[in-house]
Amino acid sequence: MAKIKSVYVCSECGYESPKWYGKCPGCNQWNTMDEKISETANSAKVITSPGHVMALDDITEDVERRISTGNNEFDRVLGGGIVIGSLVLLSGDPGIGKSTILLQICQHLGEKRKILYVSGEESANQIKMRANRLGVTTDNLYILTQTNVSIIIETIKTEKPDLVIVDSIQTMVYDEVASSAGSVTQVRECTNIYMHTAKGLGIPIIIVGHVNKDGAIAGPKVLEHIVDTVLYFEGEKNYSYRILRGVKNRFGSTNEIGVFEMTSDGLKEVLNPSLMMISGRPANTSGTCVACVMEGTRPLLAEVQGLVCATGFGTPRRMSTGFDYNRMSMLLAVLEKRAGFIFSNMDAYVNVIGGLKLDEPAADLTVAMALVSSLKDKPVGDKVLAFGEVGLGGEIRAVNNCEQRINEAYRLGFEKCIIPFHNYKPLPKELKTSLDIVPVRNIRDAFSALTEE
Ligand code: TYD
Ligand code: MG
Repeated sequence: MAKIKSVYVCSECGYESPKWYGKCPGCNQWNTMDEKISETANSAKVITSPGHVMALDDITEDVERRISTGNNEFDRVLGGGIVIGSLVLLSGDPGIGKSTILLQICQHLGEKRKILYVSGEESANQIKMRANRLGVTTDNLYILTQTNVSIIIETIKTEKPDLVIVDSIQTMVYDEVASSAGSVTQVRECTNIYMHTAKGLGIPIIIVGHVNKDGAIAGPKVLEHIVDTVLYFEGEKNYSYRILRGVKNRFGSTNEIGVFEMTSDGLKEVLNPSLMMISGRPANTSGTCVACVMEGTRPLLAEVQGLVCATGFGTPRRMSTGFDYNRMSMLLAVLEKRAGFIFSNMDAYVNVIGGLKLDEPAADLTVAMALVSSLKDKPVGDKVLAFGEVGLGGEIRAVNNCEQRINEAYRLGFEKCIIPFHNYKPLPKELKTSLDIVPVRNIRDAFSALTEE
């Protein structure tokens, strides 16, 4: 027998509680708690038939069928193309270029396939103008300006396109849900409907989701567990390049990135991102060092700058852009305690060029080198690259994919690599001879090259 229980759910943030509140404890909005009847099963008395189990051996593997978007960077992040019947979420800040990239991939996809572009944000005229500017001329692209999910689903069923693009999920409304478009309940419900449609009809659907002020896709992460693939489109307003990052992928590896540049005629693929990241680096200057970080399977060079100067008064200032603030404080403490570089009366700033965010421990040594180089006012060297994780004992710990990182440095004309000692031995001989590789055990070794006179 089922037991009837009522819960109160916030229509804005999805907060659930057994008790009614005038003000939601989750999002502090007034009058948003709605009663919902939920049935909790009384397991002892419910008789249901058992589910059907299958031996792993008996399951025939369905080869995933993918469609290529014709855009190498986009395909790479998806793991080789869009999987038939999958639901992909493309999210990012407003104005970053989500609509632009999706319209661009329509050009190639439209050669063979029928695409339905559902827009709840722009008028058909606006889309046409943008398509003209981007050179999208395919006859197979159909535009539907609609926000009602029920109508959209009916259209998909009758039109039977090969791909559906929904721009954006925040504008969609499902009549059965009382809350307004963009609220968590609405967004979640609409996504669920699209998921069923994608799976049921075998039509891949890409939905666009704007990231709200807190950096989460409307309704903290509510969509990410529903969809098959989550892509983030990132970039800084002041820079023209954009990074497409795979953060979840049921059909491929995550952490892959694709790099694009926003130009006057749309987004262009960047074939050599490392070169772009280190271009314009000041020559023979102290306080700069280059890191090599792994973005998925791809090594990427990044310039880290450090600036250290005497504190004017009071407590020293520390500031970090593109590198974790706490990790920077830890590095300063290690440098002071283990290598004798005194920062306690110094302001210290770290900046990663190009708006990149380095969240890999391999960048520790690079940040430390940049800071010490600035403190001592001695350049690290224009052709020198350093990476390695710094431990609290001042030891430099091994990192993964060392060989790939060094290869990338070599490809871009670097001559010297400062690497963790434990990574040195397994390196192939050719690599050791083609570059000056300096294996180091602790931070003192790493800086001896800088400080020795
Ligand atoms: P858009 O794709 O509309 O962003 P989103 O859908 O993520 O909100 O991108 C809009 C921005 O891109 C806008 O600031 C103008 C710029 N842009 C270009 O620089 N070049 C172009 O060719 C296009 C179409 C847009
Ligand atoms: Mg848009």
